[in-house]
Amino acid sequence: MKTKILKALKDAPGYVSGQELCKNLGVSRTAVWKVIRQLQEDGYQIEAVRNRGYCLLESEDVFTGEEIRSVLHTRRIGQELAFLDITDSTNNEARRRAEQGAPDGTLVVALEQTAGKGRRGRSWVSSGGTGIWMSLLLRPDIPPECASMLTLVAAMAVEAGIFLVTGLKGQIKWPNDVILDGKKVCGILTEMSTEMESIHYVIVGIGINVGIREFPEDLQDKATSLILHTDKGVNRAALTAAVAEAWEDYYESFLKTLDLSLLKEEYSKNLVNRDREVKVLTPGNIYTGISRGINERGELLVETADGVRAVMSGEVSVRGIYGYV
Ligand code: BTN
Repeated sequence: MKTKILKALKDAPGYVSGQELCKNLGVSRTAVWKVIRQLQEDGYQIEAVRNRGYCLLESEDVFTGEEIRSVLHTRRIGQELAFLDITDSTNNEARRRAEQGAPDGTLVVALEQTAGKGRRGRSWVSSGGTGIWMSLLLRPDIPPECASMLTLVAAMAVEAGIFLVTGLKGQIKWPNDVILDGKKVCGILTEMSTEMESIHYVIVGIGINVGIREFPEDLQDKATSLILHTDKGVNRAALTAAVAEAWEDYYESFLKTLDLSLLKEEYSKNLVNRDREVKVLTPGNIYTGISRGINERGELLVETADGVRAVMSGEVSVRGIYGYV
């Protein structure tokens, strides 16, 4: 009912009478009033005027499950949505739900993670109210070896979502960090459960730094957040929805070919360090070359004196010649 009342308030050009809400939803005036109170507690500014009804005023950044639902236009992603105030990690929560049979497209979002996970066993700073910590649960019918490409698809979706909602033009640091002005604004951690030849499920965990103004000392020259690049507020629900919608479009292209043939041009255009010298760090070997974009398998093409090498993600990391990117 909360979602329906919110939708009615959003759709109305002005006031919606309490009576109309009661009639349309088949509930009592008290029930409507209680929901209005809950919405106000969630942060919505709702004006209540005797004999006129309720009017939703401009609300800056209300981040709740209802708000995401009210702006989400997807076919699958988030049709099943879990919005949690706090959890250990949205990836863990998505995994628990996957094991209980949650459907493909389930979206788990949390205000705060107490044990946010980064890649390579690192932790991910994810305190309350400062970011978007979300995980998509997918049950794709694709060979397990194709799954690593999904993480590049997710980076494209985040870059596109950020641009749509904030106007900020990010770049992608291969394979899947989203960068703003040389620093990381989003990290992606993809985990999966597979059998020999099939995938049970994949969890794509996305962490976008939105409101963090100060990072721990060791991250200060590597990490950034959206708020440090815009003087307008960032609406987290709109951004979550935009990323989910962009994901669906890119994912559809991926599924057509089961690789990145249809996406590699766009991905490569947004690649940080494209046509610049990069350093490739593999276990036991470091070499340099010019980064030339990705191929259809999502491998980074690096032009070296001995020819073009296709670098696979995994244990490899690629840096610019100076510093993090
Ligand atoms: C990285 O190291 O770059 C990956 C960071 C991924 C963080 C996100 S936040 C939502 C999801 N839940 C987690 O525990 N991690 C991912």
